[in-house]
Amino acid sequence: MGLSDTPAFPLPRSARLAVFASGRGSNLASLIEAFPADPPAALARVALVVVNVPAAPALRQAQAAGVATRLICWTRYSGSRDAFERDALATLDRAGIDLVCLAGFMRILSPAFTRRWAGRIVNVHPSLLPAYPGLHPQRRALEAGERESGCTIHLVDAGVDSGPIVLQRRVPIFDGDDEEALSARILEMEHRAYPEAVRTLLQGDAHERSETASGASP
Ligand code: GRF
Repeated sequence: MGLSDTPAFPLPRSARLAVFASGRGSNLASLIEAFPADPPAALARVALVVVNVPAAPALRQAQAAGVATRLICWTRYSGSRDAFERDALATLDRAGIDLVCLAGFMRILSPAFTRRWAGRIVNVHPSLLPAYPGLHPQRRALEAGERESGCTIHLVDAGVDSGPIVLQRRVPIFDGDDEEALSARILEMEHRAYPEAVRTLLQGDAHERSETASGASP
């Protein structure tokens, strides 16, 4: 799948976004700020937040912002990803969602799920993909002696952090940076980049990127 194979955006109305978040929810906050439900922004509004951890700060944040929430607890499905995903898919359909934004959801979605949402599900990852997919990308970038890192917003396919790139933003790595310092610098960039990537996608402005991580534009 490439960006050009994805269903056409823009939509002739304000898009309904669902954000899947299970952690501290800082990207969720930036998406809610950029695309408020009330009054709805012209391009899109966060219409639903799906959380799979009851204690997640993301759940309280969404509730405080007056956004509809759905807690879909993995543990309630006796470890069955199928049942969990069936419920999630039905929830998205009922809510009339146009675009799903993953923001620290902490669950790998099945190929059946990502196929069903192909071109309409995005993720944010704290590295310059295709470099450092998967876990601890900031630590691995430091260990490799990289001089820069960044964040990538990409369409989600059946692989891990492997779908077509919508947008990348770079940050420098300074001497003496530890994992915490680098993670914070990247996260701050994510908060600006994620809404921008969503806008780009919804406006139909996303184009195929052929650059490698080292050749990607800022
Ligand atoms: C971010 O680092 C993001 O890149 C990764 O998960 C983290 C989510 O952080 N996919 P937050 O919950 O949005 O603060």
